[in-house]
Amino acid sequence: MKIDPIERSPVQMTESTEIDTQRDIELAADLEDPQEILAVILDPKRRGTLYPYLHRLREIAPILKTDQATGRPAWVLTRYADIREALKHPDVRSDARGAEVFDVGPEGHHFVDMQRNTLLFLSPRKHDHVRDLISRAFTPRSVELRQDRIQAVLDELIDRAEPNGGMDFVHDFAFRLPMVVICEMLGVPAEDLPQFYDWAQDSSRRGEIGGITDEIVRKGEEATLGYTNYFMKLIEEHRENPRFDLMTALIDAEDEDGSRLSDEDLVGGCYILLQAGHGTTQDLLGMGTLALLQHPEQLEFLRRKPEAIPTAVEELLRYDTSVQISQRVADVEFQVGDTRIGADEVCVLFNGAGNRDPEHFADPDRLDITRTPNLHLSFGLGRHTCLGASLARMELRSAFETILRRLPDLRLDDDAPHHYRDSLFLRGLETLPLAF
Ligand code: HEM
Repeated sequence: MKIDPIERSPVQMTESTEIDTQRDIELAADLEDPQEILAVILDPKRRGTLYPYLHRLREIAPILKTDQATGRPAWVLTRYADIREALKHPDVRSDARGAEVFDVGPEGHHFVDMQRNTLLFLSPRKHDHVRDLISRAFTPRSVELRQDRIQAVLDELIDRAEPNGGMDFVHDFAFRLPMVVICEMLGVPAEDLPQFYDWAQDSSRRGEIGGITDEIVRKGEEATLGYTNYFMKLIEEHRENPRFDLMTALIDAEDEDGSRLSDEDLVGGCYILLQAGHGTTQDLLGMGTLALLQHPEQLEFLRRKPEAIPTAVEELLRYDTSVQISQRVADVEFQVGDTRIGADEVCVLFNGAGNRDPEHFADPDRLDITRTPNLHLSFGLGRHTCLGASLARMELRSAFETILRRLPDLRLDDDAPHHYRDSLFLRGLETLPLAF
């Protein structure tokens, strides 16, 4: 697949460019009202600074009942052990009830309908069936077979950027690698890739848990319809002309009783693979690279000892993760710490807070690329554990190895600051200008 240039839409910058400034650590420590702390965490203007406020919330109200997070009553959990308990509990689920958080009325219904057809929000029986079919393409063995292709894409991206002496790492590199890989797996033709850029951004912004304006809803609908029409056409083409790709495998897959996935299931499957398969990895590449550049001694260590890259990747996943939030709803009353959470009550799990919980990780705010063990929550746990974790790990390891080897003078561009996106559910950088 040749990687064509992608036109860029104007982006909305957030004010904050740094994380964990001393000022924020002090400000957070002074806050006493958990609702006020949560308001800071949810404020779209402050998405760079996050962890001092998550720490403070965990300290004073680790299990907080609030309607601030989702617009309706929900429990916000920030302790590692509690999040783990909710994710592993057999009667605590992610199903269609979770998709209600996106409901803004009829003008936004296409997006909500699409979410209900994705793995994260299917009924348990259907979820297990669809997951079983898709996961065959994501076993460590199947992923290993993609290694050479991933390397070729990485080399092409660096070849293109190198003569310029710099690039916006998010746009020119981090977005493209996972997008090209997942599109090739799905059987999406290379020339169609550029049109996904805006759909991907707009869909991910619509999936946030706060600050949803009419414009965001409108763009979310456009992106959903764009994806739906695109995938329907591609499914038809694959039906007429079967190929050796994931799309054909999903179309052909039969249940024990001979039934096949409906068009809605197929579109929902393609959508989540494309959205979950590229944005999260893009964000981890961006935030991981930033973290390494902000810790030059660790970057240097990794240059000297590239064999430490797999351990470093786990730490970068823990240190600043892209999927900051998971949602669950209990079927029955269950116990978290000393709190009873009732049936049908929504739990909002702050994975990023769990990853920085000092009860579980020693010195959690320190980036330590040699940290082991490192049982972070960044790929989730339980029934909905990330299906693409093997692929993501391979992409991240290969990308860091290639960047370190091929760009020995990599540094932040002093003339252009980096910016976090206006998002929290899926945290990431909008821009990361680099020089080399
Ligand atoms: C660094 C990259 C990634 C991160 C941090 C990440 C994180 C996550 C997390 C936390 C979940 C669980 C969500 C929940 O429990 O509510 C999840 C689920 C999922 N991920 Fe990933 N992911 C990454 C890459 C990928 C890739 C590359 C793919 C596919 C190509 C993928 C596909 C999925 C799918 C399909 C699910 C839903 C699984 C289910 O509901 O059964 N992810 N991911």
